[in-house]
Amino acid sequence: MYKNIHAAVVGSINMDLILNMKKVPEIGENVLGTSYGYANGGKGANQASALAQLGAKVKMIGKVADDANGNKLLENLKSKGIDISGVATDGSQTGLAAIILDGDGRNRIIVYEGANAEIDPQQTVKSIEGKTNLLLVQFETAEDVVVNAVNHAIKNNITTVIDCGPAKSFCLEKMQGATILSPNESETKALTGIYPDSDDNILAAAKVLKERSKTKYIVLKLGERGCALYTGEVLKTFSSYKTNVVDTTAAGDCFTAALALEYINSGDIEKACDFGNKAGAFAVSRMGAENSMPTIKDILKI
Ligand code: RIB
Repeated sequence: MYKNIHAAVVGSINMDLILNMKKVPEIGENVLGTSYGYANGGKGANQASALAQLGAKVKMIGKVADDANGNKLLENLKSKGIDISGVATDGSQTGLAAIILDGDGRNRIIVYEGANAEIDPQQTVKSIEGKTNLLLVQFETAEDVVVNAVNHAIKNNITTVIDCGPAKSFCLEKMQGATILSPNESETKALTGIYPDSDDNILAAAKVLKERSKTKYIVLKLGERGCALYTGEVLKTFSSYKTNVVDTTAAGDCFTAALALEYINSGDIEKACDFGNKAGAFAVSRMGAENSMPTIKDILKI
């Protein structure tokens, strides 16, 4: 379905250590975990996997180390048909995320960036091939990596989708005129100072994001409330789909990838928002990050 899409994903590749517990500890408290496991993650790799699983041709651009985790993560991306020729392997240590998951599937994530913080911005731009028609970036790499990649894509008329995770301040003014900018609630607060907890606050935050970035579409991810689209003229919300919540990790990555694919495929941003909501609903119903990404068949069942 999406086979004419040549996507480049510039972003992080992490090994995720997931610790499950009924209740997360308070400061100074010890709690017993119920299980733990390792999973493939990193916002960039998750989005690359989601795109590939939905049928796009994907090139991953980033950095790992030549260590056990790095090799495992690259093998996994390769096994999904993702081109990993844009991933450098001379990082100091592969990125690691410690994910604490409570009994309601809510997470807290601590990321050690490692090699992700060492990506070369110039090399990144060189790795974006001429046939690329979709670029996805997130904020889990250095700011100049994101800014260079986005500006290169804008200059070359590549549909450019910016996922604003994780929450941090970012100089949006340095990349003017991308296609879609998509923060979640805490990322919106970090970028605008406004938490999007009411219609008025959603609109106020979206206006600030639009003004700062001149992005064509602002799409706020609102968790269980779905998402909100701001075009500069109209604000429209799209309700989420209800599934059994097991693990919310990477639901936002899944949403962004699906949103981007459907938008570039149909040119219909409203349809894309709804498709993103369906994909996100699937992701929260599965444990893990990259391995909770849906196929088209999974999405059609939502
Ligand atoms: O968005 C989820 C991802 O955030 C996890 O896979 C983890 O690696 C962190 O980067």
